Amino acid sequence: MSAKRWVLAARPDGLPKPSDFRAEMLDLPPLKDGEALIRISHASVDPGMRGRLTGDSYAPALGLGETVESAGIGEVVTSRTAKLPEGALVTGGFGWTTHAISDGRGVQMLDPSVFGGRVRPTAAIGVMGVPGLTAYFGLSDLGQPKGGETLLVSSAAGPVGATALQIGRLLGLKTIGIAGGGAKRNYVLDEIRADACIDYKAQSDLAEAIRREAPDGVDIFFDNVGGEQLDAAILNMKPGGRIVISGQVSEYNAAVPRGIRWVTPFITKRLRMAGLVVYDYRKRFPEAQARIAAWINDGSLSYREDIIEGFEALPAAFIGLFNHENLGRRLVKF
Ligand SMILES: NC(=O)c1ccc[n+]([C@@H]2O[C@H](COP(=O)([O-])OP(=O)(O)OC[C@H]3O[C@@H](n4cnc5c(N)ncnc54)[C@H](OP(=O)(O)O)[C@@H]3O)[C@@H](O)[C@H]2O)c1
Repeated sequence: MSAKRWVLAARPDGLPKPSDFRAEMLDLPPLKDGEALIRISHASVDPGMRGRLTGDSYAPALGLGETVESAGIGEVVTSRTAKLPEGALVTGGFGWTTHAISDGRGVQMLDPSVFGGRVRPTAAIGVMGVPGLTAYFGLSDLGQPKGGETLLVSSAAGPVGATALQIGRLLGLKTIGIAGGGAKRNYVLDEIRADACIDYKAQSDLAEAIRREAPDGVDIFFDNVGGEQLDAAILNMKPGGRIVISGQVSEYNAAVPRGIRWVTPFITKRLRMAGLVVYDYRKRFPEAQARIAAWINDGSLSYREDIIEGFEALPAAFIGLFNHENLGRRLVKF
């Protein structure tokens, strides 16, 4: 039995290139007692993977020649453990590979009573997985929302941003998204049901555009982007405002980050800014997943997937995240 996998071939310099990745075959050893063979059907591509391709991040850098890491969904095809019965759908951090051998550690079976109907199995690595949980804990824990406050979210058409906006709406906040282009703006208004959405590509002065939508100021800025968008938001924060640093996608390919220009408002308006690593909330994932599933099932929270076909497409699908291609959670289906 052999698996096909994508490994890191070279450390990217700036925007990753297809040649930074290499596809290769890997012979899998025979299954031992206590192990199962999983055939992967979907793998994720995530902007946050970019950091570990170059150096250490919240986890050590990926080594050259190692399988690119990602979340995945698969089916147990052969099993020698009761923990992973044949035919079970499972999720785990399998990486960009067609098959994985597991002893069950780090792999969860998808409960058919949860993953059925509106909550599709692929949601386990989207709105019910890392992106949705980042939105949930970033907003609820670091954002400290109170009903009636104003929430601004960057990369609002991505899976983290779209979920943060909807949770904000469900908690009684006024919600404003920032997204690039008319199609993404329409999605945020029509499907995500934000109160307003700013197409930043159509603005000559983003700070002024935010001021028009939030004339009384912003209480919580949930930031996925950084750079110019973060500065424009800082200029619109209300006294006591909170800035949640979820991601800084505009900085990930920069040799030297642009950074923050406006710092004085942190003093004059007593602002707070804090970042999160979602895995720190691991013990509370079940509580968040139960709430997110209930919102999906009663129709109050929607999610969109941007599914690219073919194992061969993985590097291009990943690079496309930095070219603004995706609308919703980008997954690759093998
Ligand atoms: N802290 C954590 O634990 C944690 C966990 C998961 C994810 N995250 C972070 O959350 C953020 C959102 O992740 P996601 O999975 O939902 O992906 P995402 O927002 O869909 O990311 C891709 C999108 O980012 C925008 N973008 C890309 N390059 C940009 C640039 N140079 N300038 C401005 N915008 C750019 C594009 O949207 P537009 O077309 O709208 O520009 C693109 O479609 C990421 O920064 C990620 O690293 C953090």
